[in-house]
Amino acid sequence: MPNTENLVSLQADETLWERVFTVAPLVLVGTREPDGRADLAPKHLAFPMWGPWYGFVCSPTHATYRNAVSGGAFTVSFPKPGHVVLTSLAASPRYEDGEKHALEALETLPAREVDGVLVADCSFHLECRLDRTVDGFGANSLVIGRVVAAHADPDALRTLDREDDELIHTHPLLAYLYPKRFASIDQSLAFPFPAGFKR
Ligand SMILES: Cc1cc2nc3c(=O)[nH]c(=O)nc-3n(C[C@H](O)[C@H](O)[C@H](O)COP(=O)(O)O)c2cc1C
Repeated sequence: MPNTENLVSLQADETLWERVFTVAPLVLVGTREPDGRADLAPKHLAFPMWGPWYGFVCSPTHATYRNAVSGGAFTVSFPKPGHVVLTSLAASPRYEDGEKHALEALETLPAREVDGVLVADCSFHLECRLDRTVDGFGANSLVIGRVVAAHADPDALRTLDREDDELIHTHPLLAYLYPKRFASIDQSLAFPFPAGFKR
């Protein structure tokens, strides 16, 4: 009989997620600062909520959270693996003047439906209006937006005349392997859904 005797028990506190690798996406969340500048910050705890909602986990101490609440909107850009350094730079500390000068390295485009920017040369973008925040997960909150516009690089779109494995091979996906690694996913296999599976 399998039992738990050979397993290591871990502390169920903030150190838990440092003990193993978990697979996450890596996106750039864009918000508008009160002085009109654009802010961008990487988030890996970010996910679609089926339907037209997208959420991410954010500390209320971050400008991203404050700006999303005060401006009522945020954008999400999905960087390609080749942009991992630029993506990381968006987490650079602010200077004494409160500015994140590293953001000058990121080329942006204006969002169409909300007040914000999208990051150039990404595979996929969302424009969201703030739906709600859910506070109280320790030092973190959940920020959920309703997707009001979405844009994709046509080369990264699934189409009937292209096999999914070939699309991922030619347009790899960026994955974040928390806590400190990333991967470029260019190989994939069809998922073995059970016969009769319905979502
Ligand atoms: C790879 C990576 C992933 C991150 N993921 C998250 C995340 O999911 N949630 C979060 O609150 N902060 C995350 N951060 C930290 C913020 O991006 C970082 O603190 C940023 O500077 C906050 O900027 P802001 O104050 O302009 O919002 C991540 C940082 C890196 C480098």
